[in-house]
Amino acid sequence: MISFRAIALLRARISRLLSLTTRAHYFDEARHGLKCPSYPRLHKGILSWNDHATIRRDEVKAVVTQIEEVDGPNDEGAMFTCLSKLCDNSLQPHANEQAATKARHKIELETEERKLPNSSMAKPVSIEVWNPNGKYRVVSTKPMPGARWINLLIEQDFRVEICTQRKTILSVEDILALIGDKCDGVIGQLTEEWGETLFSALSRAGGKAFSNMAVGYNNVDVSAANKYGVAVGNTPGVLTETTAELAAALSLAAARRVVEADEFMRAGLYDGWLPHLFVGNLLKGQTVGVIGAGRIGSAYARMMVEGFKMNLIYYDLYQATRLEKFVTAYSEFLKANGEQPVIWKRASTMDEVLREADVISLHPVLDKTTYHLVNKQTLSMMKKEAILINCSRGPVIDEAALVEHLKANPMFRVGLDVFEDEPRMKPGLADMKNAIVVPHIASASKWTREGMATLAALNVLGKIKGYPVWHDPNKVEPFINEKARPPSACPSIVNAKALSLPVSKL
Ligand code: DGY
Repeated sequence: MISFRAIALLRARISRLLSLTTRAHYFDEARHGLKCPSYPRLHKGILSWNDHATIRRDEVKAVVTQIEEVDGPNDEGAMFTCLSKLCDNSLQPHANEQAATKARHKIELETEERKLPNSSMAKPVSIEVWNPNGKYRVVSTKPMPGARWINLLIEQDFRVEICTQRKTILSVEDILALIGDKCDGVIGQLTEEWGETLFSALSRAGGKAFSNMAVGYNNVDVSAANKYGVAVGNTPGVLTETTAELAAALSLAAARRVVEADEFMRAGLYDGWLPHLFVGNLLKGQTVGVIGAGRIGSAYARMMVEGFKMNLIYYDLYQATRLEKFVTAYSEFLKANGEQPVIWKRASTMDEVLREADVISLHPVLDKTTYHLVNKQTLSMMKKEAILINCSRGPVIDEAALVEHLKANPMFRVGLDVFEDEPRMKPGLADMKNAIVVPHIASASKWTREGMATLAALNVLGKIKGYPVWHDPNKVEPFINEKARPPSACPSIVNAKALSLPVSKL
């Protein structure tokens, strides 16, 4: 038998580690390195669950040790059942949908092992092949959500190869093996290093197009792509609200200490209401600060102002006119209803935002000017009880300095979706109760991820078919509308100018 307290501890640990590491960040380590010698069935189960989710070896060991400390040796069968229930939640949500597509289209599906061409470094790479006789060959370095992107390619006579290798981050060699000798285009991921080596290989294989399945493309050396005449696509326009919603979720969770309280509850520690239990911050009437008021920053600002009646201060090189108009109109509305109006201010320096805001959310692009924008010195400007949110890119924050700041200021809270050395966290961060950490899931809503997959596929398809580039990459609704055929254009090519690609007149 496994005790109630042990189950509670197990649940708390597993749900936390699943929420931290879902989507296979540590897949290889867990698969190859995990050992639970005293629990062979548990060990086997964890290996097979890792086909869908991820459990870090050290986390599993910690769970087992923790249970044994409390309970002595436990009944393995009971632990197995408990773990398996918890892990079931993380199964891939799109498996059924893709199976239905396969059946509907009677698509021939093969799984094969691919070797690195012309090289002694040959390594097998597992792939799935859709429409094997298609005229053009496109490779996707990962299975992507939804089925529409696959259908769109197949309908246009594409052979689609999807890498099914159970490895979260593919190496340059893995991708070289996928490209092979003849490849018209590749859909890749933000975890991959797309530079000189890959673009020259793609060009040698006859490739014309690459698309990141992401709006950000700091993993891509665009000048290398230019050199080889390869178009580089990205996926703007479908991430805005989804990313802003996660930033809002982290803000709220940090302000009201939701994660800490959840862990406390699951650990069986709640034994009655107390006046001081998990007291946090009321957002209403406080000031939200936005650094980078582009599409996502503005959407987040609107959510926080309208949803929680917060005042706004923002910093951006450009004036966010629509955002300002919105807050002004909302303020009038509140006044007309006899409520306290909200106010807004465009700061002339970033420091002004850091000093004045109670909740600060970072939304800049990552470049030389924004690297370590938040550091020891800028952290010291912020209020002691401020909340800092980052859903942009990890290196915008000096994470080691942040850990020190969190240690010294227990009332300062942070919500992070991205990390400086992703997928790793800087030492000490995981132990900080005043930090909420999630594994780069800001764009992880079904609609957005399917939209990203569709846009990435259409970028590659469009370039290969010789379509022009869409005139406004932020207005991509016609490509996403499932009820109509997408326009004959590439939704978003970031080096269109450099390659002098024609622009759609539509
Ligand atoms: C992007 O698209 O750049 C995001 O970081 C993915 O969530």
